[in-house]
Amino acid sequence: MNHKITAAITSVGGFVPEDRLTNFDLEKIVDTNDEWIRTRTGIHERRIQKGEGLATSDLIVPAVLELCKKRGIETTEIDCLIVATVTSDYPFPATANVVCDKIGAKNAWSFDLAAACSGFLYSLTTGATLIESGRYKKVVVVGADKMSSIIDYTDRNTCIIFGDGAGAVLLEPNYEGYGVLESVLHSDGSGRKYLRTEAGGSLHPTTLETVQARQHFVYQEGAAVYKYAVKGMSDAVAELMEKTNLTADDIQWLVPHQANMRIIESTASRAGVPLERVMINIQKYGNTTSGTLPLCLWEWQSKLKKGDNLVLAAFGGGFTWGATLIKWGF
Ligand code: COA
Repeated sequence: MNHKITAAITSVGGFVPEDRLTNFDLEKIVDTNDEWIRTRTGIHERRIQKGEGLATSDLIVPAVLELCKKRGIETTEIDCLIVATVTSDYPFPATANVVCDKIGAKNAWSFDLAAACSGFLYSLTTGATLIESGRYKKVVVVGADKMSSIIDYTDRNTCIIFGDGAGAVLLEPNYEGYGVLESVLHSDGSGRKYLRTEAGGSLHPTTLETVQARQHFVYQEGAAVYKYAVKGMSDAVAELMEKTNLTADDIQWLVPHQANMRIIESTASRAGVPLERVMINIQKYGNTTSGTLPLCLWEWQSKLKKGDNLVLAAFGGGFTWGATLIKWGF
């Protein structure tokens, strides 16, 4: 009997808005075409949150409520709620605080964590550590972004890639060795020159000039990011496999961040995992930043079996990157 506490995922929720932005819609907005986008990225369409007064917290609320309903718990039972996001409702307070207010999670402490596209992995490890400490019994980890709020729809380098969405998992203590078992996480802030939002922070506070210079939108040097992402995600998976003595045959599912189909394929190929064991939904949702990994778990949960080894991998702005091993527990 293994008495060590591990953090098992015991429920999953997800939400994507109804409105779709297809490649054909983008053809009408910027100089691009469906064929280019599909062959270079694998994306066919993305979901966009439309409507006044809606924000990232409104993507998260249905995902967390679904998770609670499936597990049969009240929101008041949540001990801690972590939101990974780069598109918080406000600069402060944290979106996690707003979510807890909206769902009535009165007993939870909550905070946001910003690690761009690796945000969910970072938050999952953070949440798992809280469970492993023995101090908390129910930790909700969310990955969510309303990327449409920071995308320049006149910039064809970025507007074809990103979409909106949210996913959430519930972590609970497990004594049989299921759950989040190992993580390798890295960051290198020198990567900020290739991928960032220039203004709106303390370095360049918002002014009329920063708005006119379109500095509140995502800036990306796609080709450079692509190169680092391919290496970062593949290296992280290799490092995790070595650390945990796993071979490709031991991995039932590879769950890669959905940034570009070619990055997914090369990560899978380097890990030796065939594409039929790789979760891929980039064609429907594009890159939802913090949302990609939990949205994959949400869509695939009915196919997962107790004991399956899942390797999650991500790379994102910062740079931040890493990989996490989960032994599926329900
Ligand atoms: N439609 C049509 N043509 C486009 C285009 C678009 N949306 N965007 C760029 N192009 C053109 C370029 O102008 C360039 O033309 P040129 O050869 O005449 O100069 C050509 O297509 C190739 O551009 P390039 O930027 O080298 O394309 P790419 O193959 O690197 O693909 C990305 C661009 C953005 C899809 C790719 O770099 C990428 O996915 N990068 C990583 C993105 C990522 O993972 N970001 C998030 C990290 S979390």
